[in-house]
Amino acid sequence: MYGAQSTDEEPERTAFRLAEKRYKLYKSLPPKTRKKPVLNQTDLFDVVDFHAILESVDPIDGIFRLDCPGFDRPVFCFRDRPESNANTSVEAQGSFKSVSASTLLRKLRWGTLGLQFNWSKRNYDFTLPHNKIPEKLCQLAKEMAIPAMPSGEEFQPEAAIVNYFGPSDMLGGHLDDMEADWSKPIVSISLGCKAIFLLGGTSREDVPVSMFLRSGDIVLMAGKARECFHGVPRIFTDDKHAEVSVLLSQFSGEDDCCITDYIKNSRININIRQVN
Ligand code: OGA
Ligand code: MN
Repeated sequence: MYGAQSTDEEPERTAFRLAEKRYKLYKSLPPKTRKKPVLNQTDLFDVVDFHAILESVDPIDGIFRLDCPGFDRPVFCFRDRPESNANTSVEAQGSFKSVSASTLLRKLRWGTLGLQFNWSKRNYDFTLPHNKIPEKLCQLAKEMAIPAMPSGEEFQPEAAIVNYFGPSDMLGGHLDDMEADWSKPIVSISLGCKAIFLLGGTSREDVPVSMFLRSGDIVLMAGKARECFHGVPRIFTDDKHAEVSVLLSQFSGEDDCCITDYIKNSRININIRQVN
């Protein structure tokens, strides 16, 4: 169940909503004001930073570093829901107007691979024709899911939702509850600009933990976390925080500027699910 992409009009004042407001790029203005959006001066001091954990000698309560055979990058695991560190569509186009590809690309918010998700009914529509998830992505997800399941169990990637984020886009707090077997993890891959990820509890009233997700990070939503509200209130597109230089360094050709411009202003999240 996905929350609204932008929930400014909602009167609810849950702990999750307050955390979203705290981190989003622009301050909320009262509805129908014509004022320009005002940047939110967010204090990021208490966002869990896995890079900082790697460099520090002091462990953080509830977060464990695991080493997985065959992977050269560290794996972090929340054994339980950690204590929070805080107190607190593609729009229809005019029919005959010609619209540039880059404008359309910016309006693209999500796509699906494999089984198709019906966003109005909020369930998977098994009758819709679809292609399989690309084999390499499927293999990667299967391998990544292993540490989140009892030994010998297999993860069957059947659907992937691909979210595209621009500078002021957010993904509202939600649960992913349309898959039959919650003992199977969701494998979530982050690419592009760094983001803040909020992991709450089973109620929106639970204060979420905030953490940075960087390009190349993979999150396994597993165990108790599979039942927890989560969302992305903010991505960073400024040079200091985006952390995309390694990605950009791979595109140096003269014709690559549209790709590098896109990378500097975007985050892509691919989350892979076993549906049945
Ligand atoms: C989702 C989701 C998280 C992210 O699409 O269900 O939770 O990191 N995405 O974008
Ligand atoms: Mn989700």
